Formats: sequence, structure tokens, C-alpha cells
Amino acid sequence: MKRKVTKAVFPVAGLGTRFLPATKSIPKEIMTLVDRPLIQYAIDEARAAGIEEFIFVTARGKSALEDYFDESPELETSLKKSGKTTLLETLRQTYMDSGAIAYVRQNRAMGLGHAVWCARRLVGAEPFAVILTDDVIAAEKPCLQQMMEAYEETGGNVVAAMEVAPERTSSYGVLDIAEDMGAIVRVKGMVEKPKMEDAPSNLAVIGRYILLPSVMQNLHRAKAGAGGEIQLTDAIAEEITAGNPVFGFRFHGQRFDCGSKAGFLQATVAYGLARGDLHDEFAQYLGDTVAMLKAGH
Ligand code: UTP
Repeated sequence: MKRKVTKAVFPVAGLGTRFLPATKSIPKEIMTLVDRPLIQYAIDEARAAGIEEFIFVTARGKSALEDYFDESPELETSLKKSGKTTLLETLRQTYMDSGAIAYVRQNRAMGLGHAVWCARRLVGAEPFAVILTDDVIAAEKPCLQQMMEAYEETGGNVVAAMEVAPERTSSYGVLDIAEDMGAIVRVKGMVEKPKMEDAPSNLAVIGRYILLPSVMQNLHRAKAGAGGEIQLTDAIAEEITAGNPVFGFRFHGQRFDCGSKAGFLQATVAYGLARGDLHDEFAQYLGDTVAMLKAGH
């Protein structure tokens, strides 16, 4: 039987330079989509997929992120006094059980692969999930939960994948497909950020992974060998050579790249419109704005 995946790694140690100057003092993961920080969306998705242990790989300047999950007795008392029960419930949903959340440090931003490797002792010899909080996925069934179901079926390593425009392949890890079974594809190779003409397909990896413990060992060797950035993609590609299967999973849902300004703005519009309490006013404003743009103002 496949071992249940109960641990998730959240690499949040990047510098977030694309959001400077904001990220000078605010971790990117605390930036808010409507009224919830990006990290809350990621945690909720992990919980829905059955994750019980949450491992954050953090860095200098990320203390706001660590504080976010603490209980807030003063706020609670104040909300209770004023009878704001809905807000109280919203607040309580941010709390994490004592001991469910762990932080390890990445001393230097040496790449995503290196960040994941920093969590090796906490992950141990178990399969684990990796969630990149930059990738926010709006989906009826949360993306990681869809992937867990695929993993139950296939075993092996499972990476979230989506078709991108051919000229965009140079921004992603791209899959070389051995067998396309629809939602699931068996992968025979992976290339990090290939030029359009070198890309083996236009099926790109995005920020959700279910990985076997052997990927940690691959990262460990990469750590010993190379300087500079250590790529997660390379460590997963090594699995194929070692005979451990890798599958791409075409998830249902819309992915927003909240690591980029344009993606973050698009997500704000989508999540704003999806909110019952904001929809009418916001849709009216957007409709008026689009009409003005069309009229050339
Ligand atoms: P990005 O490539 O988006 O880098 O990392 P970044 O530093 O966050 O942002 P920019 O490009 O400077 O604006 C993808 C994910 O990997 C994590 C980031 O926190 C983000 O979740 N990461 C990246 C690390 O944890 N450590 C690293 O050394 C690099």
C-alpha cells in the first residue's frame, strides 16, 4: 500500500524581488488576496488534502509570516465583546495546532531545490507534498486534493502541470511526455526553463508536487556537488533515470501566478468577483472601467 502523505513543505525563503519595494519589509506570502494572505490559501489547500504537518522553509525577514499563525487573545476578546462572531470564526481559522507547524531556515536563497532540501530532517523517509504559495489555484476541488487522488492511483512522483503558450516555456519546468493518458501523463524527462525551440512540449510544471523520499536524496547529492541555484526540477528528473516513475497531472482549476504583478492583479479580480459580499459593487466598477477603456478613455 502507498504510504499516506501527511507532510507538506512550503518553501517561502525567496527574496521576492519582483514585489520590491513592498517585499523590503513584508514577506511576499503575507500579501493579501482580497482579505487573506497568500499563505492562508496554501494552508487551506493542504488541510483539505489531508496534510497534518506543515513545514515552512523560511529566511531572514519572514517573522511576520511566523507570527501570522499564532493565537490572538486581545483580538479575540475584543471581537467577542462586540459580538462579531463571523470575524471571530475567520480569526480562529488562521490558528494552527501547537506543534503542527515547523520552521526551518534557509540561510541563503540558493534555489527552490535547496529550499526543499533544507526540510529533509523534518520530512524523513516519507513521501511529501511541496506547495509554492505564489501559485494560487481556484478550483472546486482543491488542486492538491486532486493530486492526492492521482497519487493513490499511480504512486510515484506527481507534479501539477498545465499547458502554456509555446513562447512561455522559458519560464517553467517543462515535461517530456512518454505517454499521455488524459489527466495523467507519464513523463520521460524534464527540462528547466527551455527556449521555445528546445522545449519537449508545452506542458509546464507549476507549484504543487507530491514527491518520493528519494527526491531528497537526489537533492542531497546536488547540494554536495554544485554551487549556485539548486533546481527541484533536476532532482525530480533524476528519478526517471533511477527508474522511479514521474507523472504530470493536468488539474482542474485556474492557476494564478501571484509571484508576478500581473498575475497578482488578475487573481485579485477573480477572487474579488467570486466573493458574494463584494461581487455586485466590484462587478459594477469593473464593467464601468472596461466600458471607459473601450471608449478610449
Ligand atoms: P521564485 O522563483 O518566485 O523566487 O521562487 P522569489 O525569490 O520568491 O521571487 P522573485 O523572483 O525574486 O520575485 C519560487 C518559490 O521558491 C521559494 C520562494 O519563496 C517561492 O515560494 N524559494 C526560492 C525559496 O524558498 N528559496 C530559494 O532560494 C528560492
